[in-house]
Amino acid sequence: MSPKNELDHYIVNGGKPLMGEVSIGGAKNAALAILAASIMTDETVTIENVPDVRDTNAMMEAMEGIGVRIKRLDRHTVEINGSQVENVNIDTENIRKIRASYYLLGALLGKYRHAEVPLPGGCDIGSRPIDQHVKGFKALGAKVSIKGGVMKATAEQLLSAHIYMDVVTVGATINVMMASVMAEGKTIIENAAKEPHVVDVANFLNSMGANIKGAGTDIIRIKGVDRLHSCTYSVIPDQIEAGTFMYAAAITGGNILIKNVIPKHLESISAKLEEMGCHIEEFDDAVKVSSFGKLQSTNIKTLPYPGFPTDMQPQAGVALALAEGVSTITESIFENRFKYVDELIRMGADIRVEGNTAIIEGTDGFSGAHIQAPDLRAGAALVLAALAADGTTYIDDIHFIERGYEDFDKKIRDLGGDIKKTADIKTAVKKAKYKLIS
Ligand code: EPZ
Repeated sequence: MSPKNELDHYIVNGGKPLMGEVSIGGAKNAALAILAASIMTDETVTIENVPDVRDTNAMMEAMEGIGVRIKRLDRHTVEINGSQVENVNIDTENIRKIRASYYLLGALLGKYRHAEVPLPGGCDIGSRPIDQHVKGFKALGAKVSIKGGVMKATAEQLLSAHIYMDVVTVGATINVMMASVMAEGKTIIENAAKEPHVVDVANFLNSMGANIKGAGTDIIRIKGVDRLHSCTYSVIPDQIEAGTFMYAAAITGGNILIKNVIPKHLESISAKLEEMGCHIEEFDDAVKVSSFGKLQSTNIKTLPYPGFPTDMQPQAGVALALAEGVSTITESIFENRFKYVDELIRMGADIRVEGNTAIIEGTDGFSGAHIQAPDLRAGAALVLAALAADGTTYIDDIHFIERGYEDFDKKIRDLGGDIKKTADIKTAVKKAKYKLIS
């Protein structure tokens, strides 16, 4: 449900190609883990390039709730001091809404050998098991119990372990890495996730004095140290926010210079855009995407990094729904990540989902409708569809999008897109004689 009377709707008038430049913010999924990890020292840590989005603010609110002192030096820079943590039981309503709450478990267990954290919420994109987190904590010597929706982990002592992840999991890789940085001896994590944000968290922990090698490969080696110390660290640019604006250029037939990015992190995203007929120009810290005429069909399968990211799957689905010919998308990471398809069909797309594959028949274009953002990335993808659609589109529940995109509507307006936030949608939808969906 939309938060009461908040500006929780977008009105988008489509048909204008997005042109110009956009600067990308810090990576949400790196920042969430780094914020949690910063409390592992009693000294003050300064973190720069933290995106100002709902998820990072929820994480910081939860941290303040257990006594962590946080000072915002500016919109994207925070000073954190974890020396006054009074208890290790996180219990703010807010934290239940974000999946990354479990990072506090790894950080508190790693520092205090005890943590109690509500089980993660997050987007409804499929079952979000935590068995690999539990497996890793137990391997390090912790007792883990789950009661009343709260996971509790305690350990007399954390000992090194050799852990083989049964699945490639970003969250569990980061969580176990955090819990092991001050464990006795050498811990090895095999079949580790290699995402850029896994590397960013490892680099952050090493700048605090940890001894982590191999992050970014599938074997990470952690040599336990006695304590961690202060540091100043800047979060990497957000690969998925960058990818979203790259696909915005393709979907609206425009051209956008996407600044403050690491092109290496965008390789699979760029490769698929080139297959669709877009032109990509790479610079040291920017990429330029230009789209001329009809996109071409192609096939995509989401995979762990460096494969095509699951967090870009909805955005690719929107682009392929406008491409010439038939395309397929296979979602191999989550089992419920096609929730945008129903909304897109109401805008004129021709897609059918069979199991974890979407078969997409390109259409000439979309038409406006009253739709809902089903989750964070699907919501962002539907905004891109609305920007390409004929007429006006009304989008509910945009709080999902604000979980991971800072100033999303403003960045789109600065690129020439016609989008605005509003609290009241019903009057406008009725006036447009659209079918009201809620
Ligand atoms: C992180 O989620 C991201 N969230 C997700 O981004 C992203 O989609 C995902 O990684 C994959 O890249 C954050 O970083 C906060 P996983 P996470 O553990 O850690 C299975 C967004 O849009 N699995 O890598 O929860 C799981 O079911 C969000 O920003 C287990 O089986 O993802 C899934 O199939 C959405 N057991 C696969 O692994 C476990 O213990 C990958 O999940 C953990 C995961």
